[in-house]
Amino acid sequence: MDFKSFLSFVESRRSIRKYTDQKLGREKIEQLIEAASWAPSNHNRQGWKFIVFEDQQEIFSLAQRTREFVEKSITHTHKLVADKAEELIYYSGAFDQSPTLILVMHKKSPAVSKNIIDMATSKLASGEVVSTAMACQNLLLAAKAMGLGACIMTAPLLAGKVWKSLDNLPMGFEPTCLITLGYPDETPQAPRRKKLEHIIEYR
Ligand SMILES: Cc1cc2nc3c(=O)[nH]c(=O)nc-3n(C[C@H](O)[C@H](O)[C@H](O)COP(=O)(O)O)c2cc1C
Repeated sequence: MDFKSFLSFVESRRSIRKYTDQKLGREKIEQLIEAASWAPSNHNRQGWKFIVFEDQQEIFSLAQRTREFVEKSITHTHKLVADKAEELIYYSGAFDQSPTLILVMHKKSPAVSKNIIDMATSKLASGEVVSTAMACQNLLLAAKAMGLGACIMTAPLLAGKVWKSLDNLPMGFEPTCLITLGYPDETPQAPRRKKLEHIIEYR
């Protein structure tokens, strides 16, 4: 593939938030996760897990619990103005209509981070989080290549307790983000990107 085709493919990926009812099927889900697994990772640790929800009722109920949790937390803190609160509640559960949902998790940083050098670096970035984010990008691009729609979401993690209290989660892993998946039922315009001169600094 030449750079022009690569760039136009990367540019054409959109976050898709509306899906048809059609289910994905295990074969496609596994192809997507295989693509994710080819991402680079710190020390090739591959410290990621993909928890796949396929049951529409369960996805809907997770979204309801997420919204309820966020609403309750906001009421408790009284820190947010009403319109912002409404937006947060809405977005936290905005995965409710997606036919497939993946809870992406990363391995918790090892206890060696108590070591002084690691303490300094772990504040900059967790290798596991960065690696898992790269796996997510592979998955999103693979979805595009397969004619599927996908959206990465972190707003639902505002209800951290809802996700952490799920049964049988892998030990030693924490939620990174969610990915919604399905057959697209919208073709959104590309949100504008910043100009290169605003994001590059040569030193
Ligand atoms: C870390 C991260 C978190 C995001 N969280 C959400 C979210 O909670 N809800 C949502 O609808 N979109 C979410 N998005 C998608 C962004 O809104 C989207 O990528 C951005 O608007 C650019 O649009 P595009 O992906 O179509 O290019 C998230 C994206 C990233 C990278």
